[in-house]
Amino acid sequence: MAAQIIDGKALSKVLRQQYKTRVEALGRAGVVPGLAVILVGDNPASQVYVGNKVKACAECGVRSFHHALPSEASEQEVLDTIAQLNADPAVHGILVQLPLPPHIDVRHVLEAIAVDKDVDGFHLYNVGGLVVGNTIFPPCTPYGVQLLLETTGTAVAGKNVVVVGASNIVGKPMALMLLQKEATVTVCHAKTHNLAQHTILADILIVAAGQPGLIVPQMVKEGAVVIDVGINRLEDGRIVGDVDFHGVMEKASWITPVPGGVGPMTVTMLIENTLRSAERRQELAHGEGWEGWDSPPLSRGAPPAGGVGKGVGARV
Ligand code: GUN
Repeated sequence: MAAQIIDGKALSKVLRQQYKTRVEALGRAGVVPGLAVILVGDNPASQVYVGNKVKACAECGVRSFHHALPSEASEQEVLDTIAQLNADPAVHGILVQLPLPPHIDVRHVLEAIAVDKDVDGFHLYNVGGLVVGNTIFPPCTPYGVQLLLETTGTAVAGKNVVVVGASNIVGKPMALMLLQKEATVTVCHAKTHNLAQHTILADILIVAAGQPGLIVPQMVKEGAVVIDVGINRLEDGRIVGDVDFHGVMEKASWITPVPGGVGPMTVTMLIENTLRSAERRQELAHGEGWEGWDSPPLSRGAPPAGGVGKGVGARV
C-alpha cells in the first residue's frame, strides 16, 4: 500500500496560525518578538532562504531586522554586527545565514552570538546541551523533523533510526535528539560502506545527504517512516529530495514530499525558537522558570508558573 504523506506545509500553517496567539500575548506585555538575520555575500540560495525567513516573520507578527553585508566584509565587521544585536533588547533571536565566505571563520561567528539569542541552535553551548538532553534552542531542521514524526504517531523509543548525512546542521543534532528520545540511532555518511545494509534496517529513515536519488526502494524496509531533508535543484529546474519519492512511496508507511515536507518546518521552527526566546525573557524577568524544548509545541500547554530553574543552564 502506498505511504501516507507527512505534510510539512500543512503542519507549518497550523503552527504559524497558533503563533499569532502567542505574539498577541507578548504584545499585551509590550513585547514585539524580533529576529535579526545576517547575510554575508550574495549566494543566491542563501538569498532565497533568508527571504523565506523574513516572509515568515511578517506572516506571524515577528519583527525582522535584515543585515546584508557584502561578500568582502571582514570577520570583524560580522562580529561587530553580532555584538550590536546581542545588546539590542528589540532582538530576541540572531541568525547568521550559512555558508559564510571562506575568509570568515564560522566558529568565531557562531560563538559570538549570545546563547540566549541563538535561535538557530548552532552555538557550542546549545550544541553541547543536545549531548546531555538539555539545550535552550534545538536546531531548526531536526526540531522540525521531530515534530513531523510526532504527527505520524510513531513512537521513537526503541526504534531503529538511521540518519544518512552527518552534518553539524542536520545529521549530528538529529541523531542526538533521537538518542535522547531513546531510539537506537545509526549515523551514515559519505564514507559509510554499503549504505543499503544500514538503511534496510531502519524503522525510521532520515536522509540529509544532498544527493538526489540516493535512496531507492530496495534500500528501504517495508513500512518504514521516511523523512527526506534533501533539497536539490535538477538541471531541468525541478526541486527534488534525496529519496526516490515515487518508488519509496510504495514501501514506506509514511513519507515526506520535497518540496512541502521538511523545508517549511525549518522556517517555522525558527519562528518557534524566536517566540520562545521572547517568552523566555519575559518569564525570566518575572522570576518564573522556563519550560524547554523537550516539551514541543504540539503537546505543550501553558508555561509553568514558577519552576524548573532559571536562565542559561536551567533544565530545559
Ligand atoms: N544554511 C543552511 N541551513 C541553514 C540553517 O538552518 N541556518 C543557517 N543559519 N544557515 C543555514
